[in-house]
Amino acid sequence: MSFEKVPRDAATRVIIVGAGIGGISTAIALRRQLKHDNFTIYELGNEVGGTWRANTYPGCASDVHTHWYSLSTDLNPNWPQSHVFQPDLKQYWQDLAHKYRLYDHIVFNSKVVSAEWVPKTQVYRVEVESVDGKRLVEYGRILVAGTGILNTPNYPTELSGVKKFKGDWFHSANWNHSVDLRSKRVAVIGNGCSAAQFLPIIAEEPTTQIVQFWRTPMWFLPKWRDTYSPLMQWVFTNIPLTLRWYRNFLMFRQEMLYMTVIRGGPNTWLRNRFMKGLTKYLKENAPEKYHDVLTPNYPFGCKRLILDTGYYESLHRPNVELNNDGIVEVNETGILTKKGETIPLDVIILGTGFLANDLPFHVRGSDGRSVHEYYKQQGGPTAYYGTMTPGFPNFFILSGPNTATGHGSVIFTEEVQINYMIKVIKPILSDLATAFEPTDAASDSYNAWVQSKLGKSVWNACTSWYRAEEGKGKITGIFPGTFVKFWWTLREPVWGDFKVSDGTRWKRRRAIGKVVKTVLGAGALGAGVYAIRNPEVVDHILGNLSKQASQLLSQVSSYVH
Ligand SMILES: Cc1cc2nc3c(=O)[nH]c(=O)nc-3n(C[C@H](O)[C@H](O)[C@H](O)COP(=O)(O)OP(=O)(O)OC[C@H]3O[C@@H](n4cnc5c(N)ncnc54)[C@H](O)[C@@H]3O)c2cc1C
Ligand SMILES: *[C@@H]1O[C@H](CO)[C@@H](O)[C@H](O)[C@H]1NC(C)=O
Ligand SMILES: *[C@@H]1O[C@H](CO)[C@@H](O)[C@H](O)[C@H]1NC(C)=O
Ligand SMILES: *[C@@H]1O[C@H](CO)[C@@H](O)[C@H](O)[C@H]1NC(C)=O
Repeated sequence: MSFEKVPRDAATRVIIVGAGIGGISTAIALRRQLKHDNFTIYELGNEVGGTWRANTYPGCASDVHTHWYSLSTDLNPNWPQSHVFQPDLKQYWQDLAHKYRLYDHIVFNSKVVSAEWVPKTQVYRVEVESVDGKRLVEYGRILVAGTGILNTPNYPTELSGVKKFKGDWFHSANWNHSVDLRSKRVAVIGNGCSAAQFLPIIAEEPTTQIVQFWRTPMWFLPKWRDTYSPLMQWVFTNIPLTLRWYRNFLMFRQEMLYMTVIRGGPNTWLRNRFMKGLTKYLKENAPEKYHDVLTPNYPFGCKRLILDTGYYESLHRPNVELNNDGIVEVNETGILTKKGETIPLDVIILGTGFLANDLPFHVRGSDGRSVHEYYKQQGGPTAYYGTMTPGFPNFFILSGPNTATGHGSVIFTEEVQINYMIKVIKPILSDLATAFEPTDAASDSYNAWVQSKLGKSVWNACTSWYRAEEGKGKITGIFPGTFVKFWWTLREPVWGDFKVSDGTRWKRRRAIGKVVKTVLGAGALGAGVYAIRNPEVVDHILGNLSKQASQLLSQVSSYVH
């Protein structure tokens, strides 16, 4: 590869994969915090927004309070509801991309296929393939995967026959809006977050006959979507800090749910009480004939929370039917169940969710190992602080292994990761070092802590996309703690955990910094000792300070009047 010429500016170039929430937020942080301009985003699709670009199914909305599910630097006082619908979310991210002038930095319709660390030049060599088949190579010292966890649609094997199906079929993440569902026999497969949102809406059309096929019952939280009045929006816009405090309150409330109900083993007293409440809710809202099959046989908290946005109620409709007999196969005309019944269909909608947690491109690191090989060695996706991988210098994964929480905003998590990343790359962009990578020892000890915390947790009690080996293996999705704990863990890099390349200048700078800190510390200590011995001096200084403070106050108040 030495014959390839690496452009000069590669040394400060940041390559971002994906223009979803993570990619856009990274670019915004580079601009805001570092005034850094040398970055490129490659995006598979033709717009920003990731999840909120791809998913356009009826009723698609955030299931976390949107005031918390927004970027901390750009709160929006005008959200119309507590759980905003997809078009508004997509618009929000497009507006941000305009505001921070990011469109010039995004290359759309381009898929990153691989990245390889080149030790000689200390940059990643990144291969990009555009939709029309053209390949290009790009170099950058810093690589950020903002490829998300929930964007590869899951097609379970028993549904492989769907390709033969003669009617219309599509996945909820690629909704085909030209398919008219009126007077059609429609199969909805799956009952996760997406299906629970769109089924009640398509069921409103009485001529659409719906059969929902599903396997595992889910816990539903009571329906709850507030709208914000113009007055409330006015308050958020005009009264300082109300919006910020409201957001903190929403986060606090979810954290309380985590602390009291979700945390702990599968069989805690509070969890059982909570499940009783949810069962009562189910019985009051779903048709009686389905009460038994709809009651989950695993503890609440084990799978991601689902809000009931009218799902239970829609099961009362004469045009909706549940079928949990199990699917044998799909053929040209319909679905064959394990009971031997054939159900003829016109349309099949797959609400089967996503393949989580797999990095969708190949990365080769400093010792020739690939990320996927590393994951395999570790029994599933594994990372240092959920963000960096040993053997992969300057490589960051947003929403990486063990960063998900079942109870809140992914945007919060990704912002914490991004702020952490900014601190790690600052010395690189200031030309004080060329690379940082966590050591194996540091990563192993962090992950030993993570897995020990997860050992007896509720997430072992069911299969879910939080776990490797088709939902049955090591828990690779969940962070074992509160959002606050995640923020606290990543607030400052532990520099001793890193291997540094070409970092003599950085080490010297840090040594000087340490000396300065020590001198200042010793000075403060000396002053303290001196002050204790000479209390009259302290009195004098304090007296002076209060005098100055009162002077300042009187000056300020003179402006106010
Ligand atoms: C229906 C649905 C509802 C959700 N609701 C919530 C919610 O209410 N609250 C919450 O916290 N989370 C929710 N999530 C999770 C959601 O995915 C995250 O909140 C968030 O969108 C993650 O952002 P991201 O940028 O990391 O990933 P994404 O939004 O998935 O963006 C990744 C981007 O990377 C691009 N990409 C992927 N591979 C490549 C490649 N090789 N080369 C170039 N580009 C690539 C994709 O095209 C995409 O644009 C929901 C997910 C879904 C599917
Ligand atoms: C969407 O459905 C229409 C109507 O059946 C069909 O003509 C079209 O090819 C479909 N689009 C995609 C992308 O499958
Ligand atoms: C699909 O399967 C059903 C039930 O086995 C059968 O009656 C039907 O003929 C099959 N269709 C085709 C085209 O094979
Ligand atoms: C106290 O404040 C005055 C000005 O208000 C200043 O001249 C004097 O030096 C100060 N003394 C100390 C000990 O800081």
